[in-house]
Amino acid sequence: MNKRILITEPIPENVKNHLKEQVEVDTWDSPDQMPRQQLLDTIGDYHGLITAKDKIDDELLNKAKKLEVVSNISVGYDNFDVEALKRSHVIATHTPYVLDETVADLIFGLILSSARRIPELDHYVKQGKWNKAVDLPLFGRNVHHKKLGIVGMGRIGEKVARRAKLGFEMDVTYYNRSRKEQLEKELGVNFQEFDELIKESDFILLMTPLTKQTYHLIGEKAFESMKETCFFINASRGAVVDEDAMIDALQEGRIAGAGLDVFEQEPVDPKNPLLKMNNVVTLPHIGSATAETREEMKFFAAKNALQALNKEKPDAVIKELQ
Ligand code: DGY
Repeated sequence: MNKRILITEPIPENVKNHLKEQVEVDTWDSPDQMPRQQLLDTIGDYHGLITAKDKIDDELLNKAKKLEVVSNISVGYDNFDVEALKRSHVIATHTPYVLDETVADLIFGLILSSARRIPELDHYVKQGKWNKAVDLPLFGRNVHHKKLGIVGMGRIGEKVARRAKLGFEMDVTYYNRSRKEQLEKELGVNFQEFDELIKESDFILLMTPLTKQTYHLIGEKAFESMKETCFFINASRGAVVDEDAMIDALQEGRIAGAGLDVFEQEPVDPKNPLLKMNNVVTLPHIGSATAETREEMKFFAAKNALQALNKEKPDAVIKELQ
């Protein structure tokens, strides 16, 4: 009997057809997330699950009697309860590498958009308000030659650092659990302790994954220490930041602005005060969302799942389960 895979995300036909050469495939094609109860009721029939947002915890794993692999179509896997996965012996995979450049491009979009006020001024022109030369109240801030502090220097942070150093001649520092000495030599970026980096940067980019340890890593104390001219950029996960503390800092003018691709609640609540602020650029979690990269991620997730079902070691097992 063929193995069966359930895919709870929209998936391109070519990826689906590739999977169908080896396994039976059922898909959830709605753009809305598959209802949790429906997933719990059906997961027992499947050997593989390809997902991006479903919570993979004891409740699901206890019902997933045949499940051999859960393959996330994203690099972040904060939807996985890693301890529950360890107990279950289900293989868990994700999609690193293929999205690094794409997310780094978007991060530069956020840096430029917030500092140069691009969305706000686009709106200004389209509303017909441009009737004289722009003056100080509409001026932005320079990006080139400024100090960029990256919190969490993983693969994506590295790609951003490259763009910042080579393209914008920025002074780049980073804080990370482990030093990246090779990168320091190669690019001329410097390690800095967290508190110093927060105090001195003109742009702070948050790139740490969401874990129990990083939850609300950037809170009131960090926002208190930032420069008044600092732009805060988050393209990792919303809950690494205490959003209420960020809202206070922005409302009280304690920082200059923010560029946000992620929020504590997604999709963001339309009443979230951040959506009313001209100095905040907001995006709907689109770091990796280009047609090319999302297709590559889906192929990668399919490959990981097939490898696991064929008893081969998948290319990208999450590091805690290796
Ligand atoms: C990821 O892959 O974790 C990204 O956040 C998805 O866009």
